[in-house]
Amino acid sequence: MREWTKEEKYRYLKDPQELIELYDRIIKSEYRQTYHIQPITGLLNDPNGFVWYDNNWHLFYQWCPWGAVHGLKYWYHVVSKDLITWKNLGVCLMPDEIYGYDNKGAYSGSAMPIGDKLYLYYTGNNRDEDYVRHSYTCIAKLGNDGWPEKYPLPLFGPNPEYTENQRDPKIIVMPDEKTYYIILGAQTKDNCGRIIIYKSENLLHGWTFAGELKVPGFENLGGMWECPSIEHIGGKDVLMFCPQYIKLKGRGEGTNHNGYIIGTMDWDSLTFIPDGDFHVLDFGFDSYAAACANNIEDNDKAILIAWMGLPGASYPTDDDEWSGCLTLPRELTIRGRRLIQKPLPELKKLRDEKINISENEYGCVDLPYAAEIELEIKPGDCELDIFTNKAGEGGLFIKYIEEKKEITIDRSSLEKRFNISDGESRTRILENGLSNLRIYIDKSSIEIFVNDGDAVFTSRVFPTEQERYMKIISNNAFTNIWTIKAAVKEEFLI
Ligand code: FRU
Repeated sequence: MREWTKEEKYRYLKDPQELIELYDRIIKSEYRQTYHIQPITGLLNDPNGFVWYDNNWHLFYQWCPWGAVHGLKYWYHVVSKDLITWKNLGVCLMPDEIYGYDNKGAYSGSAMPIGDKLYLYYTGNNRDEDYVRHSYTCIAKLGNDGWPEKYPLPLFGPNPEYTENQRDPKIIVMPDEKTYYIILGAQTKDNCGRIIIYKSENLLHGWTFAGELKVPGFENLGGMWECPSIEHIGGKDVLMFCPQYIKLKGRGEGTNHNGYIIGTMDWDSLTFIPDGDFHVLDFGFDSYAAACANNIEDNDKAILIAWMGLPGASYPTDDDEWSGCLTLPRELTIRGRRLIQKPLPELKKLRDEKINISENEYGCVDLPYAAEIELEIKPGDCELDIFTNKAGEGGLFIKYIEEKKEITIDRSSLEKRFNISDGESRTRILENGLSNLRIYIDKSSIEIFVNDGDAVFTSRVFPTEQERYMKIISNNAFTNIWTIKAAVKEEFLI
């Protein structure tokens, strides 16, 4: 793996031409996705500023142009009319040595339209001469030309009561539309993850510290909470965040997680009253920093998109000088005390050809590079091996054992293994058994929706040229397969 010096990874992007050669190499990578948002070069991590504005869905991603490294971060801008087909608009927020507050990165945040302009709330990751971090909550206005104008001063600076790990502003508007909150992920001085809250009656100024969010019973869940948000879905509040520096049962040595607690938010006492436990948002291997679209009208659902990756993890495409992609956008609803995540109905538009399922001499079916697989499953054990070789060996195993009511996804038999220490299998209990699976495969990812969104397993996978088959081992499943049309364009736009 390449070693990067600080100078190399924090180099400012001055001339887009510098990236052309890199881009030309990257687009030849066999693992470039065909219908998932991915970086034009370098590394993508969190989705930012997801919002409906000016008749378009806007989405930005954390982007380090130089390679598969967490270096200087920009916001890269993409837009869509339907959440399915996406167009590159180019780089948006740029870290700036002269402005200074974000000299070492325009970190994650959210967006909110005010009047006819879009405002971006983000963390200015500042480092001083001694390389000490100072986090500022900054704001920029997106002009009609798509170019962001930064406000001369941040909305507020670091809170001295916490460590310098305070970031990822999520802007929240109260129903009276007169009170606004910004919540930030933070860390106490004795290393506990927290959320801190700022308040104002004006979105552009007058922000003061309102206090720390109390979440009774969850005071010791990890050492830092990143990317917090509070969503209102189906009459309930949902607190979402990414606790770090904590191991969770069944998730190997991994210490970065993305999860949620359902409950009620009391803004007067700044208390989130939990109604249930902390649950992981995604049962797969590679999912983090999920963000919901701001300002959607529907109170019963939210739309969520996440980074299909993990902090600190390496991926096989690192050698091809790029890393990361986003998940498909998903519809979020609540059933009982759980979030339900379904693929958006619009995704059906991407179905291309329905495949005639014919098996080779080993009982394996050819697997298209980009496909949707749908299985209706009758009670009983069920097994589906995806990305096997021609003879049905190896691959990623999806196994359901009726007696235990347990579904397990195991990727340890793929040829290209990675992040092994985080564990190579994930299990989830399905109290009501398994009735259906909807699986989306792209060139280097798999998203498995179980029982109409009751659980989702999201994972990067890097199948080799031989791992292009699928084996349905059970005879209690009725299967449909479609090829999927390309929906992201490899357009070099900076
Ligand atoms: C989460 C995160 C955020 C931060 C951003 C930097 O993945 O660490 O907390 O703002 O990434 O790229």
